[in-house]
Amino acid sequence: MSASKPKTASFVISTKQKIEELEKLNAEAMLGGGHDKIDKQHKKGKLTARERIDLFLDPGSFQEIGKFVVHRGRDFGIDKQKILGDGVVTGYGTVDGRLVYVFSQDFTVFGGSLSETFAEKIVKIMDMAVKNGAPCIGLNDSGGARIQEGVVSLGGYADIFYRNVRSSGVIPQISAIMGPCAGGAVYSPAMTDFIFMVENTSYMFVTGPNVVKTVTQEEVTAEELGGASAHSTKSGVTHFTSKNEAACILDIKKLLSYIPSNCEEEPPMLDYEISGEEIRNELDKILPDNPNQPYDMKDVIRGIVDKDSFFEVHEKYADNIVVGFSRIAGRSVGIVANQPMSMAGVLDNDCSTKAARFVRFCDAFNVPLLVLVDVPGFLPGTDQEWNGIIMNGAKLLYAFSEATVPRVTVITRKAYGGAYDVMNSKHIGADMNFAWPTAEIAVMGAQGASEIIFKREIASAEDPYAKHQEKIDEYTEKFANPYKAAERGFIDEVILPHNTRAKLIRAFNMLENKVDNNPRRKHGNIPL
Ligand code: HXC
Repeated sequence: MSASKPKTASFVISTKQKIEELEKLNAEAMLGGGHDKIDKQHKKGKLTARERIDLFLDPGSFQEIGKFVVHRGRDFGIDKQKILGDGVVTGYGTVDGRLVYVFSQDFTVFGGSLSETFAEKIVKIMDMAVKNGAPCIGLNDSGGARIQEGVVSLGGYADIFYRNVRSSGVIPQISAIMGPCAGGAVYSPAMTDFIFMVENTSYMFVTGPNVVKTVTQEEVTAEELGGASAHSTKSGVTHFTSKNEAACILDIKKLLSYIPSNCEEEPPMLDYEISGEEIRNELDKILPDNPNQPYDMKDVIRGIVDKDSFFEVHEKYADNIVVGFSRIAGRSVGIVANQPMSMAGVLDNDCSTKAARFVRFCDAFNVPLLVLVDVPGFLPGTDQEWNGIIMNGAKLLYAFSEATVPRVTVITRKAYGGAYDVMNSKHIGADMNFAWPTAEIAVMGAQGASEIIFKREIASAEDPYAKHQEKIDEYTEKFANPYKAAERGFIDEVILPHNTRAKLIRAFNMLENKVDNNPRRKHGNIPL
């Protein structure tokens, strides 16, 4: 019974055996749910959790955390099925040499469903990511709450949600949806900064097709209800979609290249040698003579930014506004631009919320803003009013007004009415405001304005049509230009289009050390 009683030789495990045991456990953990389930995953056109991490991180940089964690479930026979890692691979590594934290859900283990310990593993790396100021990337592929565990699984989700919110604006949080994402599980991605979806193999919904059918009698497939296409075009839930997982992972890495690792850092700056005067003559030829004819604002963007550097966000959603990251002389910028090619670039509900969210991300993470304006106003109509254009338009106004990052505006053509104020005008805190000579900065277009203020004169004229035209011309000459605004100092300079890039390089350099703070408060109250 003595504690110091020597063990007999048969109980001694040699060092070699101990090393072999660890190697065996490591190999077991690497297999997740086993060969059959891995084959099944591949047959669906999906990679495994570990293959995704291998593609994402710099070779050899992954340090796994919690490889031997197993669940604590006891019900429905699950206690007899313990799989090392418990369905989620977590840890840290580097992307282009920069530290990132990653969790990758393993569908081969209980369908990637979230248990108490699964959640603990995610929470652990989320906490580390915040403490060490590095992005947290989640690769999601999960059947939702581990049904055998009941409420502890729900608690695990809530632990993650809570941390999503605590981390918001502190470190970038990115979610890739690479399989099912159902029930409350969608709310963690929804609270991260960017969502990526893979076409045909991923979906997101709060309630799946069966529940939808029971409650609303609607018949809809999972793909129609919550596939990449639905969320990139109809709901705007996803910011990016990719043809396959490898492309999706490349896009996440690309996004990371534009943004800093945390809110205290500046975005990475690429080496850039300024060549000559940075003149871009093609910009002089983009705008048509007829102010009512559309042109592609992306041609203007391409004419201004570093070659091939524009990375569009939300490309297929609310395309009357274009948002995305780019570089100007190596410096990362966030671009918000009205798109005359789509609904004449008018502001509506969807594009206002899309742009407001983007502006807030850029402001949270020190990405300077470039705003290109050609906007005829807000979209009128019952559909817009009843769906809250007042509140949604106010979101964009609020987002720009609270942004303290360097903010530069270029008005290419129309800047009418309230939309002029909203689109990063001088009045709401923009730092440098430029206009092209083609700019029309006025309360409204000449046609509408003359109909209102010369109504009686036109009606009583011998030839009302000719009179109206005369008044349109008069209004156009007086107001449809940038010079009234320049007289007031609302525009800092009217510039030649071909000089735009050079002016922007200079402006963003000048603003490099800008210091601006909002008044001290708990937090503002954006019109949600
Ligand atoms: C435990 C699960 C599971 C789950 C799947 N599995 N989902 N185990 N809990 N939630 C297991 C399956 O039993 C199966 O195990 C394996 O994972 C693969 O699942 P399959 O059904 O064979 O795969 P597939 O046909 O591709 O269908 C995938 C699926 C489906 C669409 C995800 O499994 C499904 O509908 N699962 C349930 C989804 C769900 O209702 N989850 C709860 C949502 S509510 P074997 O051993 O047979 O291979 C929720 C609340 C969160 O999440 C609230 C937070 C606030």
